[in-house]
Amino acid sequence: MRIDVVSLFPSLVAAVAGCGVTGRAVDRGLLQLGLWNPRDYTVDRHRTVDDRPYGGGPGMLMKVEPVRQALHAARAAGNGKVIYLSPQGRRLDQAAVREFAAGGNLVLLAGRYEGIDERLARLEVDEEWSIGDYVLSGGELAAMVVVDAIARLLPGVLGDADSAEQDSFMDGLLDCPHYTRPEAVAGLRVPDVLREGNHAEIARWRRKQALGRTWERRPDLLEARALSDDDRRLLDE
Ligand code: ADE
Repeated sequence: MRIDVVSLFPSLVAAVAGCGVTGRAVDRGLLQLGLWNPRDYTVDRHRTVDDRPYGGGPGMLMKVEPVRQALHAARAAGNGKVIYLSPQGRRLDQAAVREFAAGGNLVLLAGRYEGIDERLARLEVDEEWSIGDYVLSGGELAAMVVVDAIARLLPGVLGDADSAEQDSFMDGLLDCPHYTRPEAVAGLRVPDVLREGNHAEIARWRRKQALGRTWERRPDLLEARALSDDDRRLLDE
């Protein structure tokens, strides 16, 4: 898969290619990351990338033509659907990430300042997504979140083929608690069931924990999905 990111701070976005799971995805050629800076498409001496809003008021907008040209260059490279990251977008969730990962290439536009001209959004943007109900100083971190969440779902990226399947949200539930050595930490012990080697009991315990945690912390997730009879029994017992 190829993801092109249009950003005034490409070196910030490039950091995802430098480490961890996303770095491995890029190194193995499973993810291609293209970076496009609107500043490279300016034509004035000052390489201006911002402009004043009609109607006045505080703050600046991204200058239309450099962003437009950068988007055209990015699309020419990967022909991806254009996603604009902004707090006004639909809120990203794992279902959306899964669809992105299974779909074609993407162009991510990271906004800066007060955002982009509405006509640019209409002409060039296919979808607008937010990573949460808070305001970042730019869309770069949001774009990096999208790249990271997608990369780990691409076939061959994660070491253990199962580990994406066992993630939080894959099944609409939060993840269960996990333990590693030592057996006791400051007097807190690993639950016996995890040491006893009964795999059916372990699976049952993990499912019950995932259900219980979701019920406690994110009841909205349970309301959004139907529980099987088995899950309902586990949650009730
Ligand atoms: N840009 C600024 N804030 C953002 C957010 N919450 N999500 C996506 N892009 C953003």
